[in-house]
Amino acid sequence: MDDKVKEIQNNFASDIKNVKKLQDIVDIKAKYIGKNGCITELTKNMRDYSVEERKEIGKIANELKNKITESISNEENRINKELIDEKLKNEAIDVSLPGLEIPCGAPNILEKTIEEFETVFMSLGYDVVDGPEVEEDHYNFELLNLPKGHPARDAQDTFYLEGEDLLLRSQTSPVQARVMLQNKGEKPIRMICPGKTYRRDDDDATHSHQFTQIEGLLVDHDISLSDLKGTFDIIAKKLFGEDTKTRFRPSYYPFTEPSVEMDISCFNCKGKGCNICKNTGWITISGAGMVNPNVLKMCGYDPEKWNGFAFGFGAERCAMLKYDINDIRTFYNTDLREIKVFDRKDGE
Ligand code: DAH
Repeated sequence: MDDKVKEIQNNFASDIKNVKKLQDIVDIKAKYIGKNGCITELTKNMRDYSVEERKEIGKIANELKNKITESISNEENRINKELIDEKLKNEAIDVSLPGLEIPCGAPNILEKTIEEFETVFMSLGYDVVDGPEVEEDHYNFELLNLPKGHPARDAQDTFYLEGEDLLLRSQTSPVQARVMLQNKGEKPIRMICPGKTYRRDDDDATHSHQFTQIEGLLVDHDISLSDLKGTFDIIAKKLFGEDTKTRFRPSYYPFTEPSVEMDISCFNCKGKGCNICKNTGWITISGAGMVNPNVLKMCGYDPEKWNGFAFGFGAERCAMLKYDINDIRTFYNTDLREIKVFDRKDGE
């Protein structure tokens, strides 16, 4: 028995010295402490021994097994550590290498312009409201003083969904009617509604079948055109620079009386005349006017007691002017380079 133990010890001592890789560990484990290993072999013919002898053999075998297991596990740890060290050495980070550029998003320039409008109007106490893009003829036209057959409907031909009554709104003005009806002729109103609008236009540099308007409505008592002028003045200065001048030009909209076009002085040439303002020194950015009493009445407000003004900015037009964009389709294609360029411009 002693001889056998000695032999195992000697063999193990020389085998463990030759261990170099993890596979050697697997092999040595199998050879000595595995199911069919030397130690199991040692305790194989226990039946031939007395109880006392069995105890003794069991003890010796156990001690041997523990020692061998411990040595193997030390060796295994050593190899694993070497492997990790090796890996760390190979994966060392070269801090002098330039970093990878992480692509970074930028807000869409149209959204940004709309948000600027919202911020200024909210500071003037306006609510920002939403309205449906699929609209009824009743709201899009009738309640805005555009009965069927009205010639001003021609300029707002749009897409119809079912029959003649359901359409993609051609303007955000129907939201005026909706908000007035919601307030039941009882409360003053200050709201803007930025949103998508649709027209049956052929797309080109200045036309798009889908575009964005920012509608506005103020209803209260004793409102005059000068309130509209003052409001427009603030908006123009905040959005296009403090030295911006404003002017009204007479116009016509069925839902306002009187109606105006609201112009800003050209921020490019400061009024001298250039290609942006077509040499007039002025740029139109919104239609507006005093809410037509017929509209107030149809939407539940008594025109004897209430009046107000309304306006409709072209969001793309404002963004195009602000960011010097010459094609409206720029907002709707998916070329990220454009957003990047405009973002940079804005950051200057
Ligand atoms: N909805 C008009 C358009 O699409 C713009 C507009 C003009 C809106 C005057 C208004 C307004 O609220 O008062 O051309």
